[in-house]
Amino acid sequence: MLSRRELLATVAATLPAVAHARTGANAPVAPPVYPSGDDDFWRGIQREFTLDRTIINLNNGGCCPTPRVVHEAFVRYLDQSNLLPPYELWQLLEPNVEAVRRELAIEAGCDAEELAITRNASEALQIAQSGLSLSPGDEVVITDQDYPRMLDTWDQRARRAGVVIKRVSFPAPLLDPADFLSAIKAAFTPKTKVVHISQVTFLSGAAPPVKEACALAREAGILSIVDGAHAFAHVPTNLHDMGCDFYGTSLHKWLLAPVGTGFLYMRKEHIAGHWALQPTSPSKDGDIRKFEEIGTHPAANHNAIAEALAFHRSIGSERKLARLRWLRHRWTSALAGHPKIRFFTNLEAGGALCTFAITGLEPAAITTALWDKWRIFATPIVHPAITGVRITPNVYTMPEELDTFVAAVKSLAG
Ligand SMILES: Cc1ncc(COP(=O)(O)O)c(C=O)c1O
Repeated sequence: MLSRRELLATVAATLPAVAHARTGANAPVAPPVYPSGDDDFWRGIQREFTLDRTIINLNNGGCCPTPRVVHEAFVRYLDQSNLLPPYELWQLLEPNVEAVRRELAIEAGCDAEELAITRNASEALQIAQSGLSLSPGDEVVITDQDYPRMLDTWDQRARRAGVVIKRVSFPAPLLDPADFLSAIKAAFTPKTKVVHISQVTFLSGAAPPVKEACALAREAGILSIVDGAHAFAHVPTNLHDMGCDFYGTSLHKWLLAPVGTGFLYMRKEHIAGHWALQPTSPSKDGDIRKFEEIGTHPAANHNAIAEALAFHRSIGSERKLARLRWLRHRWTSALAGHPKIRFFTNLEAGGALCTFAITGLEPAAITTALWDKWRIFATPIVHPAITGVRITPNVYTMPEELDTFVAAVKSLAG
């Protein structure tokens, strides 16, 4: 349970970047009082992970290690499956996934009958993208900061069926949410059928105003697809409140579930008319489970989502976000003001992710040096709008690891 002070700090931390919108600055401002100083709690969390303590992992944006209890549950379900697969898998483990559906839906703010469990965000989003009935000439608006696989999926629809894809750009850092809304709105035409946006971008952790964007789309009779791969279990997410038509996320990122987990949300009214990528009997047309019919597949990863949810709830969404923001502030404030360092992330919004650059050094040169000299793992980002290194701590990251990282960056920047 958060204290009132903690709660106020957390609420403040999730507010849009109003101050930066006015000033256009992008320096870490005086920190709100994040409730993350209780290091005993977070050191306890760190001990829940079986990590290699000789390296510092600052790339938790790809996929994350699972806590020990989640890994153990995964292995337990895998062992169980192997006892008598046709029985254990199909009679016990798969039916129990209904409890996972129910609990994920509560966490995501939607109905369980609107949520299909998938293997990852790519699968969820590709079902949304490829199952829509669109005609040649219909237009789709997407941003150039969306995930490359999702852009490729739309490009294939363009090549195959003559759908027209319009990619819009928005600034990095995104200091004023209005810049995002005006960019997508300007691309809407009477032929626009779909808008596809990220709740948190993979390039820099930008958190565009998705709720407002979905409302703009709805007013114009346009369907919205939201990519939540970097958002679910990271930043506050309530799908009914967001108002999107489709949502896809991975659970092996911020929920810390085993690799091979994700979900698709689809507003109830779309389910019956939406094509599944792997066809099922018409009798299942109106059932969200039709999107899970992928033939024989492992159940252990999906059952272990229940353990990951329990772990997530034991921390609490607000406390987790506050900690991740506190960690981001720890390193960005130590590097802010350095004449050669620049941030591509709005330091008043979003969560753990932040992308920075050092003038005169290529991103790959920075990540190679970080790894070779300090065993710090981070990922380079090369994109027309953002060329830098993305840093992503997680709940098991300790302040002293970030201090080592800061010292390394200062030494590289000179
Ligand atoms: C924004 C975004 N969307 C989609 C994906 C695809 O996720 P997955 O590889 O888990 O399917 C990623 C992966 O990093 C991502 O960052």
